[in-house]
Amino acid sequence: MIDTPALQNYRSRIEAAFEHWLPDACTHPVRLHEAMRYAVLNGGKQIRPLLVYASGKALDVPADILDDPACAVELIHVFSLVHDDLPAMDDDDLRRGKPTCHKAYDDATAILAGDALQALAFYVLAHSNRIRVTADRRLEMLETLSLASGSRGMAGGQAIDIASEGEQLTIAELEDMHIHKTGTLIRASVKLGALSCPHATPEQIKQLDHYAKCIVLSYQIQDDILDIESDTTTLGKTQGADMARNKPTYPALLGMEGAKRRARELHEQSMDSLSVFDQRADLLRQLSRYIIKRSS
Ligand code: IPE
Ligand code: IPE
Ligand code: MG
Ligand code: MG
Ligand code: MG
Repeated sequence: MIDTPALQNYRSRIEAAFEHWLPDACTHPVRLHEAMRYAVLNGGKQIRPLLVYASGKALDVPADILDDPACAVELIHVFSLVHDDLPAMDDDDLRRGKPTCHKAYDDATAILAGDALQALAFYVLAHSNRIRVTADRRLEMLETLSLASGSRGMAGGQAIDIASEGEQLTIAELEDMHIHKTGTLIRASVKLGALSCPHATPEQIKQLDHYAKCIVLSYQIQDDILDIESDTTTLGKTQGADMARNKPTYPALLGMEGAKRRARELHEQSMDSLSVFDQRADLLRQLSRYIIKRSS
C-alpha cells in the first residue's frame, strides 16, 4: 500500500472514526458487535474513505468535516464484503489475510453483522455533528450513499455478478456489472467529498465524477488481474477465486495485455479530468496511480 505521512494521518483519522461509531465489543449483543468489529478493524486498503478525503482536499475541505462521510462509506463497503464472502455468494474463506467473518463466527452472525454495518453507515451520516453542511446537503449525502448501495447500485451489481457466473459476457455487459458492483460506491465516495464543500461548482463536481468513473473501471480491472497474477498471501484473499467460480473478468475478455492497456488508458483519462484542479488534487492523482499499480 502506498504509505506517506499524509496517508498515515488519514488512516489514523479513519480508525478514530471507527472507534467512535462502532459499539465496543462488550456491548450487548456481544457476539454481533465482536463480529462487526472483526470485519471492520482489520487493515483493508481503505481506498473509498481515502477517496472521500482526497476529493474533499481537492476542494479545500478540512479533514474533520470528512471523517464521518469517509467512515460511512467504508462501513457500507465492509458490509458488502461480509455478504460477498458468504457461502450463498462467493463462498470465500479468506479476507484481508484472515478467516472471513462467517468462518470466524457463523453465517447468521455474518449476515446480521453486514445488516448492522449498513444501518450504522446511514446513522453516521444522519447523526454526525461534525458534518457542517446544510440539512439539504446532508440529505443529498444520504441519498447518494443509499442509491449507491441499493438495487440500482452495489446490490444490483452483485445480483448481475451472481447471474453472470459461467456466462460469456460482452465487454459492455462486463462493464455494466462493474459500474454497479464496484463503481457506484467508489463514485459515491468521490461525490461525498465534493458534497462536503458548500461552494463546489457544477464543473468541479462533473470533473470529479468523470475521474471517479475512470478509476472505478481501472480498479476492477486490477482486481481481476491480481486474481490471476498475485498470490494468496500478498492478496489476503484466495488467488484464482474468479477462475474457480467461472467469473467473467477483464483478462478473460481482453487478454492480460489488453486488460493492462485498458487500465493504463483509464488512469490517463482520470488524470486528464483533474486538469482543472491544482496541486490540492494530488492525492486523487496519487490514488489513481496506486489503483493500477497495487499488488493487493
Ligand atoms: C474488494 O475491495 C472488492 C472489490 C470491490 C473489488 P477492496 O480491494 O477495496 O478491498 P479492501 O477493502 O482493501 O479489503
Ligand atoms: C465484491 O467483488 C464487490 C462487492 C462486495 C460489492 P468481488 O467478489 O470481485 O470482490 P473480492 O474479489 O471477493 O474482494
Ligand atoms: Mg463477488
Ligand atoms: Mg468475492
Ligand atoms: Mg474480485
